[in-house]
Amino acid sequence: MTDAQANLDRFNAMAAEWDDNPMRAGIARAVAAAIADTLPLRADMQALEYGCGTGLVSVLLAPRLGHIVAADVAAAMLDVLDAKCHAAGLAHIETRRLDLTADPLPAERFDIIFSSMTLHHIEDVPAVLQSLAGLLKPGGWLALADLDREDGGFHGGPMPGVFHLGFERAWVMDRLRTLGLADVAAGTAHTVHRAAPGGDAAYPIFLISARRPV
Ligand SMILES: C[S@@+](CC[C@H](N)C(=O)[O-])C[C@H]1O[C@@H](n2cnc3c(N)ncnc32)[C@H](O)[C@@H]1O
Repeated sequence: MTDAQANLDRFNAMAAEWDDNPMRAGIARAVAAAIADTLPLRADMQALEYGCGTGLVSVLLAPRLGHIVAADVAAAMLDVLDAKCHAAGLAHIETRRLDLTADPLPAERFDIIFSSMTLHHIEDVPAVLQSLAGLLKPGGWLALADLDREDGGFHGGPMPGVFHLGFERAWVMDRLRTLGLADVAAGTAHTVHRAAPGGDAAYPIFLISARRPV
């Protein structure tokens, strides 16, 4: 079995209980707040969340945005989000099965694209960043949240489908500039604290934003 298939099987298996984990809910709240503080959200914006999972971030940002395409490779995650949207009357969140490492680019272009805690599960990050940048409208914003470079402790040791132990912020920012994006900026959205053998371990999560020039 490939690492990507192991990843897909794991996320599909975890979908029903995904929202029960307080750490995940805390990360999503902090990332949504950081996006709302950093980007000029408007109710007429067309948005894409890439790697939405059960839509923890999309649901929080939904009142501030127009239409949201919430995309993920794992169908069971999208089923959970569909049920939540149905129950909450969130008709402007549209779920879509999408893997930018294998599928053609969607036809639409977006005012804002955001992604939280997904990039470290993707092997070819430069290719996906290129796809995400290409999906922005002129003037559109990209916001990426993920782990700073870490020691592997965040996932409790090696795990198939965890392709990157976080990222150097400068590397991500350089890639975005190379793709022609401007106004590239970074901040810390949240820090996860976990008990570790040597004491408390801290795992900061960055939010890197950038804009496609008009
Ligand atoms: C750690 S979860 C984060 C989910 C959600 N963003 C959250 O904050 O709860 C990573 C998500 O990325 C998705 N994912 C992994 N590889 C992907 C790919 N190549 N294309 C789209 N989604 C992917 C997984 O299915 C999973 O839902």
